[in-house]
Amino acid sequence: MTTSVKVAVIYYSATGFSAEIAKEIAQAAEKAGAEVRLRKAAELAPEAAVASNEAWAAHAAASAGVPVATVDDVAWADAVIFGTPTRFGNVSSQLKQFIDTLGGLWAQGGLANKVYSGFVTTATAHGGQESTLLALYNSIHHFGGLIVSPGYTDPVKFIDGNPYGTSHVDAQGDNPINDETRDAARHQAERVVQVAAALHTGLAA
Ligand SMILES: Cc1cc2nc3c(=O)[nH]c(=O)nc-3n(C[C@H](O)[C@H](O)[C@H](O)COP(=O)(O)O)c2cc1C
Repeated sequence: MTTSVKVAVIYYSATGFSAEIAKEIAQAAEKAGAEVRLRKAAELAPEAAVASNEAWAAHAAASAGVPVATVDDVAWADAVIFGTPTRFGNVSSQLKQFIDTLGGLWAQGGLANKVYSGFVTTATAHGGQESTLLALYNSIHHFGGLIVSPGYTDPVKFIDGNPYGTSHVDAQGDNPINDETRDAARHQAERVVQVAAALHTGLAA
């Protein structure tokens, strides 16, 4: 479709659900023709806290090879797709801390005129999916960014049912990322690449 769009997929994940969606989105964006950087937000929790939770420790080990997100990844990108597990209806502190490192780039105007989108995972239905994405999107307004939410722009959105971004209910860890969530993730990635490509071309004209 396009070869010039750069997409950064930047997420935090403790137990791997958000990481799995991040991978699906990264692969779909690449398939849609984008150059992709898949990056994780740095862990802030003490090692003892991570070690005390089997799923958290296992995912930390499994994802050790994923590069940690830097400000340059955002500066580089035409589109940034952020992902996070909910934390009491809000963005995880790890992803928020990364966003807070973007102040210098923001001051230079380096966050404006990019496409942004988000995805979320929760343990329960209605566990804060929409509030988390809306909280994430608050920051995008301050960036001067362009939020590209999936809306109901494809039949898959009437199945996963979240117009704000791909979302998944992990059912306390018992519900692996399924086809419904993967379909929504792929659609979101393709839409972001398509809009970012149009914006990129338009801004360069
Ligand atoms: C401190 C904390 C707060 C959480 N708050 C909520 C919540 O309000 N609602 C909910 O459904 N899940 C909540 N969760 C669960 C996680 O958001 C959920 O299991 C998520 O899918 C994990 O994603 P991950 O595997 O990418 O870390 C919370 C988890 C933690 C550790």
